[in-house]
Amino acid sequence: MPRAAFVTIGTYVPDRVVTNAELTRYMDTSDEWIVQRTGIQERHWVEPGLGTSEMAFRASKRALDQAGWKAEDLDAIVFATLSTDHMFPGDGCFLNAKLGIPGVPALDIRNQCSGFLYGLSVVDAWIRAGVYRKVLLVGSETHSTGLDVSTRGRDVTVIFGDGAAAALLEATDDPDRGVLAVELHADGRHAKDLWADAPGSIHSPRITKEMVESEAIFPHMEGQKVFKHAIVRMPEVVRSVLAKAGLQTSDIKVLVPHQANLRIAETVQRSLGLRDDQVFNNIQKYGNTTAASIPLALSEAIPARGVKRGDLVALAAFGAGFTWGAALARW
Ligand code: ACO
Repeated sequence: MPRAAFVTIGTYVPDRVVTNAELTRYMDTSDEWIVQRTGIQERHWVEPGLGTSEMAFRASKRALDQAGWKAEDLDAIVFATLSTDHMFPGDGCFLNAKLGIPGVPALDIRNQCSGFLYGLSVVDAWIRAGVYRKVLLVGSETHSTGLDVSTRGRDVTVIFGDGAAAALLEATDDPDRGVLAVELHADGRHAKDLWADAPGSIHSPRITKEMVESEAIFPHMEGQKVFKHAIVRMPEVVRSVLAKAGLQTSDIKVLVPHQANLRIAETVQRSLGLRDDQVFNNIQKYGNTTAASIPLALSEAIPARGVKRGDLVALAAFGAGFTWGAALARW
């Protein structure tokens, strides 16, 4: 049975860098508070007109160029985001059009910070089943246009950034390469612990002036609850997926956790007993880019940690829903 192997990852972040010092001009916060609580030093925000599907397109073009593939080589697109350009259709179709590949299927995934791993699970299953051989899996987010950039929204706004990363996966028969296992979970009892209420079809009309004024259009987060669940669920699911594959934490060359918050990633590392060289974080430069965060970090982790063909890479996610999961792949 073939396996899904990572070929390369292309990334794109907007040119505009927003430092913690810049945020202090818009809200009552400080570099010290943000760095101490989250580890974030700066993030990238789009300029008007640049959106989620365009960033995904630019990341995908880079990935295709790096691999020497043409867009026409792709059998399918899987697109993970919570910040689509429009209510519908999903950004997979806009990316399909930008890549100029009419007819190629485009699946949209909306599992927030776990979106890349939910997408990877689908890609892996398609490739194992022999349905497709070459798939583009992209995570892209434009948070900045949906944040409350005032003191009222400071607990959420300082955390998030914009960016995209696109992974190319292909079928391989090499027993020393490819995705070994993916494990996914969700607990919808916490759906409103990290969410944005509107616009939404439960409301008629879907958006009103009152909603805008009452903050319903902005993300809301029970920060401490998210923290407490993330530091339990991520180590738990990493151990579980390792056990399924008959492997141990000592076998991991590098763990790339979802870049939610540096404090969360450090707690997960301690809980799993991993050395510093076995974990990679880059939230300091990008903030939390949700569905893009794992591939954006993975693309930098491969050279930074000297990952070679056959090395074991572990990925772990936790996010809104709550959703969480982990994956293991031989590079
Ligand atoms: N700047 C300055 N002060 C702030 C800010 C800010 N940006 N945000 C909140 N505060 C204030 C609060 O108003 C509060 O003030 P008060 O004591 O006068 O009421 C004080 O700081 C402490 O607030 P808490 O919410 O208790 O702060 P906490 O120590 O819990 O840190 C944080 C908040 C960083 C959000 C923390 O709960 C956390 O890390 N949670 C995890 C959430 C997370 O990482 N989410 C990522 C997105 S979800 C995901 O990707 C999984």
